[in-house]
Amino acid sequence: MDLSHPLFALDPYATDVHAEAERLRAAGPVVPVDVVGVAAWAVSHHAVAQQILEDSRFLTNSRNWGALQRGEVPEGWPLMKIIMGQNMGTADGAEHRRLRGLVSRAFTPRRVEALRPRIQQIVDDLLDGIAATPAGGVADLKAGFAVPLPMGVICELFGVPAEQHAPLHALCNAAFDTTSRPEEVAATEKGLYRLMAELAESKIAEPGDDLTSMLLEHRTEGTITFDELVDTLILVLAAGHQTTINFFTNALLALITHPDQLELVRAGAISWETVTESALAWDSPVSQSPFRYPAQDIEIGGTVIRRGEPVMMSYAALGRDPAHFGPLAASFDAGRDARHLSFGHGPHFCVGAPLARLEAHIALPAFFARFDAELAVPAQEVEPFPSLALNGIRALPAVIRPRTAAAAV
Ligand code: HEM
Repeated sequence: MDLSHPLFALDPYATDVHAEAERLRAAGPVVPVDVVGVAAWAVSHHAVAQQILEDSRFLTNSRNWGALQRGEVPEGWPLMKIIMGQNMGTADGAEHRRLRGLVSRAFTPRRVEALRPRIQQIVDDLLDGIAATPAGGVADLKAGFAVPLPMGVICELFGVPAEQHAPLHALCNAAFDTTSRPEEVAATEKGLYRLMAELAESKIAEPGDDLTSMLLEHRTEGTITFDELVDTLILVLAAGHQTTINFFTNALLALITHPDQLELVRAGAISWETVTESALAWDSPVSQSPFRYPAQDIEIGGTVIRRGEPVMMSYAALGRDPAHFGPLAASFDAGRDARHLSFGHGPHFCVGAPLARLEAHIALPAFFARFDAELAVPAQEVEPFPSLALNGIRALPAVIRPRTAAAAV
């Protein structure tokens, strides 16, 4: 196999993420695919992905992408913004440690735990909103719960004013949409930069008790430039809500369509912490993450990847790899307690994992203590979000019934 002969093209509409993931796994641990007109290696076996993510010869900065440097990547390629930012996600070595260090101190488990009362408040308010649905009525659990919860938390942390939440969410949706046209890609890139630069400038004029103002102090000390700061805001605000939205839609969907599993959790046989991990693995919120570039030719999983060829982790495939999760990996088991890679691995392991986990541990039990829910449409009519990076859905329409006080205990 070599990169000039992709086995097939990944579907930018994400029509059936898990069927595609199975096809990848069956083709081998590392296979050449077409990613909206760009050739890349897709890694779909857990053990090989772990090996690559631990190997410092695989770099993240696009300076190391041969085809990009040769001018072969089409203008307006939809995932360009994700690979081009000047932030920790696209930095290696000392540069990565500098940019990550400025942000990661705000997301230690202790600091995150201090957010518990505020997250609980946001969750309770949103559940009160859902409770206004007439018994047996339909609520969209994405628009009414999965979006505003992580959005509310991350925007509050970074001091994003309420009127910017909707434009920020719309721009981030566009940034991950792999069906966008080149002119839309350029407009999204400009719009995100403008919105985050305005946020930074407003905090320069009037600093607040928020993480944007904290990052600006580092700019004054010379440890981060203005452009790096803006790109860091884009990364953390986008990663901090888009991923977690998909976690909630996917976990809610898994539980409401597997009532036997939900009953085990409600009965206390499986903890909410375990459900969180099993849902993260089984329906990974990130389907694929671009890119790693080897600094030299490297043989891995029986395939030689040439220096500068792009490699993507297919997290949706990794989370159901039977070689790691066992022969029943494809069926949802709320109690499956195995280590997964859905938060990444190695130096770029997700900075926000403690925050996402805390949101999950508060919000999932709170939702299922108050409501019974079932899907309001046939499962095949749940519409996927068109992205090769995010594994999500456009809406989660559910029939809602409040639980009686006795049942909720
Ligand atoms: C369930 C929710 C989440 C999932 C599934 C998730 C997934 C991931 C994955 C797979 C990576 C590694 C990417 C790579 O190696 O190329 C990553 C990195 C990252 N995540 Fe998350 N994430 C989640 C929530 C969050 C939250 C809430 C934040 C906000 C603070 C966040 C911020 C980041 C950042 C800044 C990175 C880059 C780290 C680095 O490059 O050193 N994520 N995430």
